[in-house]
Amino acid sequence: MAIRKIRTLPDPVLREPARKVPLIDSAVLKLIDDMIDTMRASEGAGLAAPQVGVSLRVVVIEVPGEDALALINPEIVKKKGERVIEEGCLSVPGYRGEVKRAVTVKVKARDRDGHEIRVTATDDLLAQALEHELDHLDGRLYVDLVESPESLWRIDGQTAE
Ligand code: CO
Repeated sequence: MAIRKIRTLPDPVLREPARKVPLIDSAVLKLIDDMIDTMRASEGAGLAAPQVGVSLRVVVIEVPGEDALALINPEIVKKKGERVIEEGCLSVPGYRGEVKRAVTVKVKARDRDGHEIRVTATDDLLAQALEHELDHLDGRLYVDLVESPESLWRIDGQTAE
């Protein structure tokens, strides 16, 4: 078990577009294991590799009642609908905000064995996490999507997701 340090704003790695994983080697598998440990230790629902300082297209997500999901080179293939929801980010501690997200999100990716997988989620935490974590791979944070200053607020003394 290895917990990596979570990078927070204004760390520039959070703003870089992450590189595609060329080969799923032992370093990538170790990265995934460490990201899952780090996500659990931080009580987050998801984590993207740039958040631990690695500019690669790797994401882990774990929502209650489901196994942890590792997505390598994920891409959104379909988005549908619109909803306004509240979110936070481990890289933006001390804040939460309200953003617009899709209702249905469909993603294709490689799993840790290199197999192509597809994940579809509708109107739930998984749909939100897919969009939020994939945004990280393009250097985008939820605070960029907040439409007005009133839609971002401090949560002193609490932990953001
Ligand atoms: Co985040």
